[in-house]
Amino acid sequence: MEFDLTGEHARYAYRLLAGLVTPRPIAWVTTQDEDGCVNAAPFSFFNVFGTRPPILGFAPGDKEPGIPKDTARNIRRTGEFVVNLVDEACAEAMNLTSSELEHGVSEIELAKLHTTASVSIAPPRITEAPVALECTEWSTMEIGRNRLVIGLISRVHTAENILDPETLLVNPEVFHPIGRMEVPSGYCRTNDRFQMKRPE
Ligand SMILES: Cc1cc2nc3c(=O)[nH]c(=O)nc-3n(C[C@H](O)[C@H](O)[C@H](O)COP(=O)(O)O)c2cc1C
Repeated sequence: MEFDLTGEHARYAYRLLAGLVTPRPIAWVTTQDEDGCVNAAPFSFFNVFGTRPPILGFAPGDKEPGIPKDTARNIRRTGEFVVNLVDEACAEAMNLTSSELEHGVSEIELAKLHTTASVSIAPPRITEAPVALECTEWSTMEIGRNRLVIGLISRVHTAENILDPETLLVNPEVFHPIGRMEVPSGYCRTNDRFQMKRPE
């Protein structure tokens, strides 16, 4: 099958791209509004893009043309956010935080989560998340109804035993992030892995 996303099939872009470009990691982003209310929401249009300096990006679509989601709105005002990563134990809570709540109502309370103060920025991280990346906004590109938020990662927090203390390599027996799969509600577990050495 073939689709023209610039023309007659444009309306299928989300279904096709979000369904096919998988698995995707999930950025579970915490931000704070000007009153200090903590907002949490998942975004799977997300990845890291470099390490010198360490950068990541994620893409909150606008609610309506020109009206950002709370996450993007808070980042525009404060320039700070935490990307928490999601494992199987956090999956249901993560999903709950994607609910549309009125501005100023915290998803953290709704999902019965806890927060831990960040070290370098004001928004806290999610205590239950296995990994958290403290970020400052580098820039946000507005492309149509998408916003692409680029963040500089200043601090990495990992739960006990996820990394080997000597090598800092990930222990695959302990770290089980979930991935976003087919639209509308597919996810994958990551407990069936294999190794492949790169060619010389
Ligand atoms: C697993 C998952 C991934 C999601 N990924 C995105 C995404 O990449 N971009 C987006 O705009 N919304 C995404 N959403 C929907 C947002 O989480 C949802 O609109 C949320 O209410 C936004 O919250 P906010 O207004 O507090 O920022 C995703 C939802 C789920 C459950």
